[in-house]
Amino acid sequence: MLNAAGIAKQGSDTIFSWWARYQAAKADGRDAVNGTIGALLEDDGTLAINRVVDAAIRVAPEVEISAYAPLAGLPSFLDLSKTLAFGETRTCFEELGFSFAATATPGGSGALYLAANNFLERGQSVLLRDRHWGPYNGFLRNNGIDFVTWPLLPPNGHDIHPYFAEAEFETKLEEICSVQDKVMVWLNDPAHNPTGLSMGDEGRAACLSSFVTSAINNEEIGHTLLIDSAYSLYADEPHAWGETILEAVESGMPWPENFLICVAISLSKSHTIYGLRTGALVSIHPEKEVIDRLDTVMSVTGRQTWSAAPRVAQYCVSEMHSSEEGGKAWGQERDRLKQLLDVRRSNLKAECERLNVPLNPTMDGFFAWIESDDPTAVAESCAQMDVYLVPLTGGVRIGLCALSAGDMTKVAEALANALG
Ligand SMILES: Cc1ncc(COP(=O)(O)O)c(C=O)c1O
Repeated sequence: MLNAAGIAKQGSDTIFSWWARYQAAKADGRDAVNGTIGALLEDDGTLAINRVVDAAIRVAPEVEISAYAPLAGLPSFLDLSKTLAFGETRTCFEELGFSFAATATPGGSGALYLAANNFLERGQSVLLRDRHWGPYNGFLRNNGIDFVTWPLLPPNGHDIHPYFAEAEFETKLEEICSVQDKVMVWLNDPAHNPTGLSMGDEGRAACLSSFVTSAINNEEIGHTLLIDSAYSLYADEPHAWGETILEAVESGMPWPENFLICVAISLSKSHTIYGLRTGALVSIHPEKEVIDRLDTVMSVTGRQTWSAAPRVAQYCVSEMHSSEEGGKAWGQERDRLKQLLDVRRSNLKAECERLNVPLNPTMDGFFAWIESDDPTAVAESCAQMDVYLVPLTGGVRIGLCALSAGDMTKVAEALANALG
């Protein structure tokens, strides 16, 4: 009874199956360590919760729990989402005459769905880095969109922009422009899943410049750059993209009509409300007309897909951030959680260095990464030593978010052994 798209859907989620193996090892009484799941855990293995957000949600008035939200989202939340996406640069952009569109979505996934549904034509391809979050493929495929990739890191290793493969990006952009009338790039930065890479000032500036140059040279071709900021509020520079874009605009970068920047925000991690499904798609453009049109298109798409996004966290989180103390208290909890990640990352880096394990560059967020031609063999070998990681396309993901600070010697030893 299934159609072809339904038949193509397979249930084997790699991350959950490796998590289940970790749990089985634990249940067998083994001293197993968990680097599988993508949720932030305390060092004792319990879910890390931002207590300030939790307290804000618990005092929700009944009506804010029960009622629908407006189709586009609660106005106070839409206002907050622009600040979460662009930080302090938001007001600078407004002073320069830019406008922002915003639509509330069920998590960052909903924002990615809106982008997959509305920018490219069916049959066209998005440009992604070769290492990317697996569910992108499904959001795109379900909207009839394909993808092509460019390398996460410059293949020669000594490019002028260490964390951005500029030449390969430009080649792919040109190829796409020669066959499509619209171009879209999805970029999960800073704090990339699955590697923890952040592109750095130079990488971001070079990427923006290549993309804008392509838009200027191809004025009939729509250019949309989507920044997936799912983990950015745990990065050292959470609003790095806003700063890069603002700097470019202030130093005279032209903003062609056919150029749009969108940010997919997710409150799942930043506010530890994974299950409350709250996020937004925020867009910036100098023309108000473009922005108004995007607001309509995106909220109509939401209406036709999931109706309205859940209301309760939109209300409670915007109430919380509306006072200076609320925002500050949230920030202190966020800092505490970020510290867990920072300590785990620096311990892992030190242990990998000691044992000559070739960890990929990793700066921020929930993950670290080892490249491998045979990731399953590496993960299987680690599992033999009771270290559970996740084999993905091109490498093995190390979930710093789930490990504890004291696990890193064991993780690095298992990797060193697996890599021979
Ligand atoms: C790279 C990336 N983008 C977006 C999301 C969206 O998360 P959610 O839909 O839970 O907000 C995730 C969640 O794991 C992610 O890893």
